[in-house]
Parts: sequence; C-alpha cells; structure tokens
Amino acid sequence: MNNLYTFLSGPALWAAFIIFIGGLGLRVAFLFGLSLERDRVFYNHADAGWGFRSILHWLIPLGSVSLREQPFFAVAFYVFHVCLLAVPLFLLAHNILWREAFGISLPSMADSVSDILTIVFIIAALVLLLRRFMRPEVRILTSAWDYVLLLLSALPFVTGFLAYHQVGPYRVMMIAHILSAEVLLVVIPFSKLAHMVLFFFSRAFIGFEMGQRRGARTW
Ligand code: HEM
Ligand code: HEM
Repeated sequence: MNNLYTFLSGPALWAAFIIFIGGLGLRVAFLFGLSLERDRVFYNHADAGWGFRSILHWLIPLGSVSLREQPFFAVAFYVFHVCLLAVPLFLLAHNILWREAFGISLPSMADSVSDILTIVFIIAALVLLLRRFMRPEVRILTSAWDYVLLLLSALPFVTGFLAYHQVGPYRVMMIAHILSAEVLLVVIPFSKLAHMVLFFFSRAFIGFEMGQRRGARTW
C-alpha cells in the first residue's frame, strides 16, 4: 500500500501532468495544422474582436441567446465549471503540495469554503447527469462515454471530500483520490474534455464566421 502511494504521488503524478499539458499542446498544434490545410479560407476574415466577444458572451452567465433559452441548466453548467476550476486550483491542501514541490503556490481559500464548493459541485454534476437522462434531445446524442466523462470529472471531488472528512480508511481514500485525479488529467487531452482549451478556438471561430461574416451573432 505504501509503495503504491509513493508511486502515485511521485512518478505517476509527473507522468499525468506531462501527458495532460503535452497532450493538450499537441492536440491544439495538430488541429491548427489541419485547419490551415483544410479551412485556410476562413483565416482571410479572422477577426480578433469578434472572436473575443464571442468567447466573452459564452463565459459570462446567461451571456448568449442559447444560454438564456435554458437558464436552469445554463446556471448548472456555470456552477459546475466554476467549482471544477476553483477547488483544485485554490484548495489549501493542493497549494501546500505545490509549495513543497516547487516553492510557489496560488492563494488559497478557507477549507470551509472549498468544502461547500465541493458539495455544490457534486449537486451540479448530478443535475447535469439528470439532464442527460431526462431531456430527449440530449439523450439521443448521449453515448455511454459521455456518462464516463461526467463520472471521471466528479470522482476526484467525491474521493477528495471523503478523504478530507476521513470517511473510510484514509490511505485508501487518498490513493483513490490521487488515482482518479490522474486518470482525469490523462483522459482530458484525448477526449471531449479537451474542450477546456478547444472551446476558445471554436467559440472565436463561430464568433467571427457567424457573427461578423454572416450577421447572425448569438448574443
Ligand atoms: C493529482 C494530484 C492531486 C493530489 C496529490 C491531491 C491531493 C489532495 C489532498 C492531500 C487533499 C486533502 C485531503 C485531506 O485534507 O486529508 C485533497 C482534497 C481534495 N482534492 Fe485533491 N489532489 C489532486 C488532484 C485533484 C483534482 C484534479 C481535483 C478536482 C478536479 C481535486 C479535488 C479535491 C477536492 C474536492 C478535495 C476535498 C476538498 C474538501 O472537501 O474540502 N484534487 N486533494
Ligand atoms: C475554461 C475551461 C472550460 C470551458 C470554457 C468549458 C466549457 C464547457 C461548455 C460550453 C460545455 C457545454 C457543452 C454542451 O452544450 O453540452 C461544457 C460541458 C462540460 N464540461 Fe467544460 N469547460 C471547461 C473546462 C472543463 C474541464 C477542465 C472539465 C473536466 C475536467 C470539463 C468538463 C465538462 C463536462 C463533463 C461537460 C459535460 C457535462 C454533461 O455531460 O452535460 N470542462 N464545458
């Protein structure tokens, strides 16, 4: 058990972060190359202003027509993502690990706040899960892999929460937490979860293509 823990919190952690960052970089480089080859013509009218405004309107809550059409789920998506990014980045325990490893860390929030955000995240994830079951137009587009990705995104939260509250054997929970986080990091570049960077490219493109060129902006 101790060997497994040492492996997961040492070499496996390095490997996961290298695959995560390197994989995302390669995926962006590959798609950029492909777009230069296949869709070169779109670059003629690329427009940073329209691209930026399109991104912004999808990042602010209820900032676009499509988001306003389904405000309940739009808010659930928003809350889901804010917690998903804020908790791992600003959690005190994580930042202590960063400081020990590299001597640098981000500001951290009080444990009581991260605890609440963790519960809020899990509720938001359940709402998004129910949405996939209940909305016929979403269910028809849903494959088993979509459920797996939602589950993978939620597992580090569930295991982190259980470890923090010392539910069950602590070592086992910590191993489950680190393992689930590493699996998530490794899967991100090779799945739809790569939208964490690709979103910005597709949104910018849709912004200048639909908004500026075809006069059909969506906000
Ligand atoms: C991959 C490396 C990671 C390591 C080494 C790590 C380590 C830790 C540690 C030591 C704790 C504190 C447990 C305690 O207080 O006893 C913790 C808690 C937590 N971690 Fe991680 N973590 C990692 C990744 C992640 C990721 C990627 C996420 C989310 C996507 C995440 C979400 C959480 C949450 C939600 C908590 C509990 C917060 C609370 O309920 O107060 N962790 N983690
Ligand atoms: C800044 C970064 C991110 C942005 C801008 C973003 C944006 C979005 C958007 C617009 C959707 C909705 C897609 C739809 O209409 O169905 C979505 C869904 C989703 N995102 Fe992100 N995302 C980001 C980061 C992440 C990360 C880091 C993860 C996981 C580790 C993640 C996990 C998910 C999941 C699981 C869904 C689908 C939920 C469902 O099954 O309904 N996102 N994201």
